[in-house]
Amino acid sequence: MLFASLLALVSSAVGAFAAAGQLQQVTNFGPNPTGVQMFVYKPAKLASPPPLIVAMHYCTGTAQAYFSGTQYANLADTHGFIVVYPDAPDPGGCWDVHTTATLTHDQGGDSLAIASMVRFAIQNYGVDPNNVFATGTSSGAMMTNVLMGAYPDLFKAGSAFSGVPYGCFGGPSLWNSQCATGQLIKTPQQWGDMVRSGFPGFTGTRPKFQFWHGTADTTLYPQNFWEDIKQWTNVFGVSQTPVTNTTNDPLRGYSRASFGPNVQAILAQGVGHTVPEQANDVLAWFGLTNLKPGSPAPQPPATPSAPPATPPATPPPTTAAPPPPATPPPTGATAAHWAQCGGIGFTGPTVCAAGFTCTALNDYYSQCL
Ligand SMILES: *[C@@H]1O[C@H](CO)[C@@H](O)[C@H](O)[C@H]1NC(C)=O
Repeated sequence: MLFASLLALVSSAVGAFAAAGQLQQVTNFGPNPTGVQMFVYKPAKLASPPPLIVAMHYCTGTAQAYFSGTQYANLADTHGFIVVYPDAPDPGGCWDVHTTATLTHDQGGDSLAIASMVRFAIQNYGVDPNNVFATGTSSGAMMTNVLMGAYPDLFKAGSAFSGVPYGCFGGPSLWNSQCATGQLIKTPQQWGDMVRSGFPGFTGTRPKFQFWHGTADTTLYPQNFWEDIKQWTNVFGVSQTPVTNTTNDPLRGYSRASFGPNVQAILAQGVGHTVPEQANDVLAWFGLTNLKPGSPAPQPPATPSAPPATPPATPPPTTAAPPPPATPPPTGATAAHWAQCGGIGFTGPTVCAAGFTCTALNDYYSQCL
């Protein structure tokens, strides 16, 4: 009886994100100098033409893990978009976000493989070239930054969970401690120039960019959130002062700062590394929430996006494995007000500070409220 209930619990937790179909591997999708693997999820019913979301895993992660650990595939069943899950060739599972090749348009590195996947999907799956999006977590968030900068021609929008600015990891090695610990400080102009160097001469509309970060992140320090704001506001030529900043949005303790239509920065108070993906919120940013299979693809609003966004480079050295995207190290036996206190994969304290109750918001996230 107890065993049966436990089983039911487990299957409902897993079933929460289960997609109707399977992840399929695709080979020979185009230029792929570093050996990135391509996996695709195509729902049974597609919107016409279907949008595409590229969803990128964290260090130590895989395409399969990000497929089953996030909601994008089951949301694809509902909305009819296609999801591509790239799989990093690095043995530590991190993306190459540091080489000049990966940071530069059509020059190579892991980013070129991902660009090839997008071009392949446009040519072979009928994907709407004006509705291609990128999202990712940690190293995948850094790659999202990289793609915004190096391939602004391919993407309409991005959403990055716990990354670093485009170019922040640039240099000889896979892991950049100076950047990770928030000690790489640049002016908005310097950060913006780095993005613009990702695709020299690009004059088109740049993808709008949303990024999320926890204030208690000790893997990629929250200073990277503030450096990201400098970078992308410079790229889009807007003020670093938010136009609006709404609190408890979308969760208690989160704040959503908007710098106009193209830059949105969400700070999660007391949350560490990684901030749990808010897939429905990401879909809203991408403009896909009302999309239905068989419906025309959403027409992008006439607002032009701006400057070239370049993603941060991420990958940790293969010898020294980068810190896994685990939850932020607890400083004590109790979790503070607003802090995470539970959820699948969470290893920190599950008891809240006096006066606060650990409240489950979803399978992956409980918070002290
Ligand atoms: C938005 O407001 C919150 C709460 O006051 C604050 O902690 C956060 O720093 C603000 N965000 C930005 C980008 O200024």
